[in-house]
Amino acid sequence: MTRPLPRFLARLLLLPVLLVPAAFMPASAAADGAARDGSPAQRPGQAAIASAHALATDAGFEVLDRGGNAFDAAVAVSAALSVVEPISSGLGGGGFFLLHQQDGGRDVFIDAREMAPAAATADRYRTADGKLDSAMAEDGPWAAAIPGLPAALVHVAEKYGRLPLAESLAPAIRLARDGFPVYGRLERGYAARREVMERFPGTRQVFLAGGQPPKQGQVFRQPDLARTLELLASDGFDGFYRGPVAKKLIAGVRAEGGRWTAADLSGYTVREREPLRFRYRGWDVVTAPPPSSGGVALAQMMQILAGWDLPELDPALRTHLTIESMRRAFRDRTFYLGDPDFVHVPVEVLTSPYYAAGLRATINPEKATPSDMLPGLPTPLEDEETTHFSIIDADGNRAAVTQTVNLLFGSGLVPPGTGVMLNNEMDDFALVPGQPNAFGVMGFEANAPEPGKRPLSSMTPTFMVSPERVAVLGTPGGSRIITMVLLGALGVAEGLDAQAVAALPRYHQQWMPDVVSAESGAFDADLAAKLRAKGHTLRLPEDAVSGRASSHTWGNMQTVVWDRRGNVLEGGSDPRNDVGSAKVRAVAPAAAR
Ligand code: GLY
Repeated sequence: MTRPLPRFLARLLLLPVLLVPAAFMPASAAADGAARDGSPAQRPGQAAIASAHALATDAGFEVLDRGGNAFDAAVAVSAALSVVEPISSGLGGGGFFLLHQQDGGRDVFIDAREMAPAAATADRYRTADGKLDSAMAEDGPWAAAIPGLPAALVHVAEKYGRLPLAESLAPAIRLARDGFPVYGRLERGYAARREVMERFPGTRQVFLAGGQPPKQGQVFRQPDLARTLELLASDGFDGFYRGPVAKKLIAGVRAEGGRWTAADLSGYTVREREPLRFRYRGWDVVTAPPPSSGGVALAQMMQILAGWDLPELDPALRTHLTIESMRRAFRDRTFYLGDPDFVHVPVEVLTSPYYAAGLRATINPEKATPSDMLPGLPTPLEDEETTHFSIIDADGNRAAVTQTVNLLFGSGLVPPGTGVMLNNEMDDFALVPGQPNAFGVMGFEANAPEPGKRPLSSMTPTFMVSPERVAVLGTPGGSRIITMVLLGALGVAEGLDAQAVAALPRYHQQWMPDVVSAESGAFDADLAAKLRAKGHTLRLPEDAVSGRASSHTWGNMQTVVWDRRGNVLEGGSDPRNDVGSAKVRAVAPAAAR
């Protein structure tokens, strides 16, 4: 096996950066974007919300109708999804909130990523022969990091909302207490994860309350979760991270052999970070900084691709170049990305347009660049974990939020009496250097676990802003989030409407393993043949001989687009998901209420 030489390569690729005189550096995208975005007095006058569940979209509108802004609506949608989509995200997980305040044109990134508990050191996740112990990393108490989502709900409501937290949480509390109809994806997800979940008494209390697993059409109630949400609503941060809920969380984790402490919970903090910004062919792109790897990779890929007028190219060449940009961004992800509170992440270099120009120069338009060979692991099914929603309110405020418990139903562990499904985000650390995690991505020191550290994420909530259009987008999908957001963003830049963006076919390359995967129908036979002729190894559902080659459809993109020319709002909800919903309707601008 050849060990890659990323530092050496990075230096080589940096040469063009060093050779470009500073006078030719572009003006700051931040200043440029904020001024253009904030100055027109234009406001949509109606609101748009796209989320993975119609009940969550409705929760957001309920709060807007009560006089809330996009940030109150984000709290309502986030909490409602935590109730109706426990398969994907919840109070036991974390998330990233990318917010834009139209007055003043300010963007802020709320990092509510989970933090490793003090006892979760790397040695716990290794087998006797030094391999990754996937069961420890994915199932039960040691898989779970300290949740961040409850703290984010409190923070966003208190600092950015117009309504009390209790009002924004009211729809979620109602949905947890009174229940909602089980849908097919929830029933199937439970069946897939049932063996792990039914090991834990607290989880059985929630999901087997009626004696049988959740069945499509039945009403699913979560009274303990309703009480936990009520305590959050009345006591804020302390309602979850101190007091009776915290005690039950710690007791439930310890009863299963884990070791959370009161200090782990009370020490949780959300971080406000500067969003990452870059330019792409007339667009300002505002996206997720570390500890997401998604924004850095998106900046690399889009700035590499900015050198070509993609819509003008032959589809095979366009796809080849896009794949090559993915390969290069994921290589850097492997070595350089981690929690910026713990490691230095060279964001400025990695997201420089001149570094991208250097990477572009290494792409052969005729031939795939081989990634260093490693035994490849199949990438597992990963379309249904994590969730994303997008909001623009009547005043032009916007929220792009991606939240998660990591894999299906996270760790599977609900500490008794809480109704809170704990995440399995510890698997997003590089628990054993160089060994791929559940998404087949690997890492080294930058993403090694440490007490209080946040695991590297792929979640990529993103805004795209041009003088004519504003788009808010994101999707679940593990490491494929990054490339799905890339394809969506390229679709926005090409002028596709919100629904077409959400429906775009998807493909993915992540450096290692050196294969291109794609969802069913993404490549027709001619395109597949041309890509193979350029040297790409394709893993297509159409060719699958084993059941794990690739899931047939990926992601669950939720996007809203504001066309400022005609002052038109559009929502796009991924057609792959039958309970999602994008709605646009009038709500009175806050100033008029
Ligand atoms: N757990 C998925 C992610 O954060 O990328």
